Amino acid sequence: MTEDKRRLIYGRRQGRPLKTGARAAFDADLPRLALPLERLGDPAALFPGLGRLALEIGFGGGEHLAAQAAARPDTGFIGAEPFLNGVAKLALAARDLANLRIHHGDARDVLERLPTASLDAVFLLFPDPWPKARHHKRRFVSQANLGEIARVLKSGGVFRVASDIADYVRWTLIEIARFNRANGDAFLWRARQAADWRLRPADWPATRYEAKALAAGRVPAYLEFARP
Ligand SMILES: C[S@@+](CC[C@H](N)C(=O)[O-])C[C@H]1O[C@@H](n2cnc3c(N)ncnc32)[C@H](O)[C@@H]1O
Repeated sequence: MTEDKRRLIYGRRQGRPLKTGARAAFDADLPRLALPLERLGDPAALFPGLGRLALEIGFGGGEHLAAQAAARPDTGFIGAEPFLNGVAKLALAARDLANLRIHHGDARDVLERLPTASLDAVFLLFPDPWPKARHHKRRFVSQANLGEIARVLKSGGVFRVASDIADYVRWTLIEIARFNRANGDAFLWRARQAADWRLRPADWPATRYEAKALAAGRVPAYLEFARP
């Protein structure tokens, strides 16, 4: 299926004009950091010597991804984000990180090229909530995308989802349960007590969107699923 024919990315592709530093990072550093989609058939080869691989879908300004990549030099990180200003911001923050590659575009184009059982972790943090019922089909958590995430995760890999929108949290749990019913428990929710989804784990760096949600009085949920 061609990208043009198949799907749209909803939401903004660009915000304010880039500031000088971000523009310079975008022009100078993005070519080095850019993910060559055609090499995703062998993603480990993009990160020689690193045994682990993770993907962040819609990294926004890249705070979580840059912090994870700095904290886990043993892991190769791939980030996908169509929003130009976020990509430029991460390119600036990631100048010294050797274990990070950026796809400036749709995460689905990365997912579908990755081999089965190739990732240790997938992060989907504060996906666009699309609150109107007629827009629910735009939500990233869908049966099709869960299928791809389940396929690319290794056994023992984790899928982390955060949202500050109660309806999106509910939606995620329902969609996962539906997926599991049809596919034999592909995702196991790890929570045992309320604190497990109410408190952000220590190895889960905060994002800009999360800070905004907290400042506005919204309470995020942090969901972690394991791939058996
Ligand atoms: C509400 S923002 C959250 C950004 C960031 N994760 C955070 O927590 O600050 C959702 C992000 O998902 C991105 N996004 C939407 N659809 C996407 C897709 N198909 N592939 C990759 N990113 C996508 C948007 O551009 C946006 O930056």
